[in-house]
Amino acid sequence: MDQYAVVGNPIAHSKSPQIHQLFAQQTKQEINYEKLLVPLGEFNQHLNSFFQRGGKGLNVTVPFKEDAFEFADALSERAQLAGAVNTLVVKGDGAIWGDTTDGVGLVADIYRLGWQIKSKRVLVLGAGGAVRGVLQPLLVEKPEKIIIANRTASKAVNLSEIFKPYGTICGCGFENLKNKPFDLIINGTSASLSGELPPLPDAVFSSDSYVYDMVYGSEPTSFMEWADRQGVAETSDGLGMLVGQAAESFRLWRGVSPDIQPVIEQIRIQM
Ligand code: ATR
Repeated sequence: MDQYAVVGNPIAHSKSPQIHQLFAQQTKQEINYEKLLVPLGEFNQHLNSFFQRGGKGLNVTVPFKEDAFEFADALSERAQLAGAVNTLVVKGDGAIWGDTTDGVGLVADIYRLGWQIKSKRVLVLGAGGAVRGVLQPLLVEKPEKIIIANRTASKAVNLSEIFKPYGTICGCGFENLKNKPFDLIINGTSASLSGELPPLPDAVFSSDSYVYDMVYGSEPTSFMEWADRQGVAETSDGLGMLVGQAAESFRLWRGVSPDIQPVIEQIRIQM
């Protein structure tokens, strides 16, 4: 059976094995998918050993996405722009291809929700690795503009410079968001993980705003609750993005695209 795994540290709570088993059942593929806990500083040796044993592909999570970027023999354009890799694929000639599927997963989930990106005013909060990984796939969908806002404004400005060739994008601090509300607001800061809220002016929200938090949990995140109190149209957490990025990895490995909706429902029940 073809072998796959997710590599990270910590890894115990990863939902990727469940998600990929559900994809395999749905598409009638036979695969084995496990969790690999890799000690810090031992990434390359563990990966070499996995691929020498005949492993076909890996998902890579925190804190190794930059190591995977260095490890790959060749990279997709979106991985080069993201500066990170979450999916490694063994090609026919044995070379290892690195890609990042987080942004495609986010876009797929936004469309699954019935939300729109084309011609919309999009606000992305945060300017760390998580945001860098999703900007190019968002720009491909032709929003009117993307504004990246971050606590450290200079990081948002730097990120916007990298992505300018791909669409209308600019960066600023939270305090600069004073004018019109946004159609789509995506929280890519790690603030939700500690229950904190980015200091946004209320003016960014309207009753026509759709609000997405890239993190997820068994309860709505504090950011979603706050947006709901502002009377926005709809909110979502990032569980569907997790399943969406996995589906794109599965497609790269197996050549078939699983349906994410039933898998999201199944994983949600288990949370
Ligand atoms: P990740 O890989 O999850 O993106 P990261 O690269 O450490 O992690 O980036 C974390 C992001 O969350 C940054 O944009 C950070 O803002 P700064 O660049 O100013 O540090 C943002 N962030 C973290 N805690 C925050 C908080 N309490 N309020 C607002 N932004 C926060």
